[in-house]
Amino acid sequence: MNYKEEIIKLKKEKNVAILAHYYVRDEIQELADYVGDSYYLSKIGLKLDSEIIVFCGVNFMAECAKILSPHKKVLLPNTKAECHMVKLASKEDVLDLKSKYPNAKIVSYVNSSTDIKAISDACCTSSNAYNVIKNIDAQEIIFVPDKNLGNYIQKKLPEKNIILCNGFCCVHENIDAKSVLNYKEKYNSKITILAHPECNEEVRSLSDFIGSTGQMIEYVGKCNSKEFLILTEEGIMYELKNRYPDKIFHSLNIICEPMKCTTIEDLYNSLLYEKNEIILEESLIKKANNALINMLELASK
Ligand code: 13P
Ligand code: SF4
Repeated sequence: MNYKEEIIKLKKEKNVAILAHYYVRDEIQELADYVGDSYYLSKIGLKLDSEIIVFCGVNFMAECAKILSPHKKVLLPNTKAECHMVKLASKEDVLDLKSKYPNAKIVSYVNSSTDIKAISDACCTSSNAYNVIKNIDAQEIIFVPDKNLGNYIQKKLPEKNIILCNGFCCVHENIDAKSVLNYKEKYNSKITILAHPECNEEVRSLSDFIGSTGQMIEYVGKCNSKEFLILTEEGIMYELKNRYPDKIFHSLNIICEPMKCTTIEDLYNSLLYEKNEIILEESLIKKANNALINMLELASK
């Protein structure tokens, strides 16, 4: 079967939008209606009239789409697409911290469970964490779960006291500083290094620019350099190479398995049978919606 042709046919027949993150397989990014970083993908769902959203990314992203558009049917083509970081923090851990720091506001990275979002004052993504934390009406902030993003923002906002958790992304955390140093030496610093804020501190300190996937892609367009080392998941290369054919990109072949598990066949089945719908309790949706709406407001202040 020619899945690509069948998917294009199904898209025409049904009132459906395919959303994809920059980390998913190239052939899925090619077929998607909207491709972007977590922030862009959380906002775009709100603007669509499609009754069905097929979310090619990981679980928390599809859940965000459902929380922000509860009347829509949101499908996750492969249920194994679970972000590792989400599992590293529980609602109990966060409530425990809240009991120790009762005056602190809870800001949760979107890479967290809906349970955690439901007890958060606001959510954030890597592209808007700085604005959300800067603009939230509190000096003390419990930031959950990513210690690397939290630590990165703490350095930029010394006036805030950010209480960190122990979560991390095993894909970014394990990027080896030595490999980055080898590149620097080999290219005699004639290479621009871009890193995701989920990278560990040592790797971040060796980088020229730190930002979300979407911010990295934008940065390349504004930067005069010709050659780049990209320190995030390999899938971003698809957009970078398409958008900037005259520039040269190097990577360390970093793979996020949950992002790669969705195949074109899964996407086809999801469109055809409308299976793997995201179902969340209504009361949970309402509470988590509040935190996501606060994110959208604080991010744009
Ligand atoms: P972005 O918000 O940069 O797209 O990041 C999502 C993510 O999961 C990074 O690992
Ligand atoms: Fe989660 Fe890390 Fe994969 Fe991003 S790269 S989806 S944080 S496991």
